[in-house]
Amino acid sequence: MIPTAQRQWLVAERPVGRELKPTDFRLAEAPVAAPGVGEVLVETRVLSFDPAQKSWMENAASYKQPVEIGGVMPGSGAGVVIASGHPDFAPGDAVVGDVGWREYPMLAAEQLQKVPAGVSLEAALSVLWGTGRTAYLALMKVGKPVAGDTLVISGAAGATGSLVGQIGKIAGCRVIGIAGGAEKCAWLTEELGFDAAIDYRGEKVKARLRELAPRGVDIFFDNVGGEILNDVLARLAVNARVVICGGISRYNFDPRSPQMPEGPRNYFNVVFTGATIQGFLMPHHERDYPQADARLAEWLADGRIKAAPDLQRGFENAPAALMRLFEGKNRGKQLLQVGH
Ligand SMILES: NC(=O)c1ccc[n+]([C@@H]2O[C@H](COP(=O)([O-])OP(=O)(O)OC[C@H]3O[C@@H](n4cnc5c(N)ncnc54)[C@H](OP(=O)(O)O)[C@@H]3O)[C@@H](O)[C@H]2O)c1
Repeated sequence: MIPTAQRQWLVAERPVGRELKPTDFRLAEAPVAAPGVGEVLVETRVLSFDPAQKSWMENAASYKQPVEIGGVMPGSGAGVVIASGHPDFAPGDAVVGDVGWREYPMLAAEQLQKVPAGVSLEAALSVLWGTGRTAYLALMKVGKPVAGDTLVISGAAGATGSLVGQIGKIAGCRVIGIAGGAEKCAWLTEELGFDAAIDYRGEKVKARLRELAPRGVDIFFDNVGGEILNDVLARLAVNARVVICGGISRYNFDPRSPQMPEGPRNYFNVVFTGATIQGFLMPHHERDYPQADARLAEWLADGRIKAAPDLQRGFENAPAALMRLFEGKNRGKQLLQVGH
């Protein structure tokens, strides 16, 4: 039966140049309609969180539709079809898509994809789609791993970083993660197969890299920017590849303000090593999604990649779940179970 009303989270303020606050979001009620031709009504079961959502609220991401104040908070998630106006979808189908922070999103059929049989919604959001495609394509196409390479990853215990490390191991790399806290570092080496991990909160990154990567870093997969990027640039090997995937240490600064951190001081080592620094943005690689999806699904099925969901609970906790990314509270992929 189609419910008559739903809860949804709206954007109340733009968090430009500062941390997210609970008052940046507003909980509201909205009606639920029956799907028209070509539309599919979904019951959201799991919401998925990404640091980029803060930049969407700021309208700072050029690749994303502008978000209005009072508009539904954008975000991806997974759920189950409850009514369909399209022949490709039927009630009970498990789907993923840009559902927004809504309990019963209505989407055009082409905005949804089916979750493969035998894959849980949590595993799908942790390993396939946005996170998996980013990890796989950025590492393979920009990092270009070769067996024996030393691969260093910042934000290593997060959603993307924890997958990049596992894919790097499959590619035959020696993998060193950089993460906040001894517990996250132990998780990387003991459960995910990383060769070593550096706790950037408790250890000196540059000194530890000198010990752990005496011949230098062949690939640096950066999710963080700032001082960590600066430290790793000092330790590059000849012909190193630096993948700029994210820069979360910068996301709470307004780019126009003098407080915005300057670029890395060690950038000139790129000259001495002949290294390449290249940015990566997932939507630019759409034609390679099928390859990434197939590989990741295969590795998930044969156990070579472990899904690492960090599952919080309760639709009312969506803002807090997003904030966890900026507080370093998540380990693996930040998800939120809503509804059933
Ligand atoms: N380019 C693309 O197409 C693309 C696509 C998806 C994601 N990304 C980017 O990739 C990065 C990782 O995203 P994700 O979804 O996988 O998030 P995530 O790594 O699961 O979560 C963010 C992590 O960042 C770390 N962090 C937060 N503030 C920090 C700071 N000031 N300095 C250092 N570390 C900090 C925290 O870990 P610690 O406890 O270790 O500090 C936190 O767990 C983000 O920068 C995101 O924007 C890019």
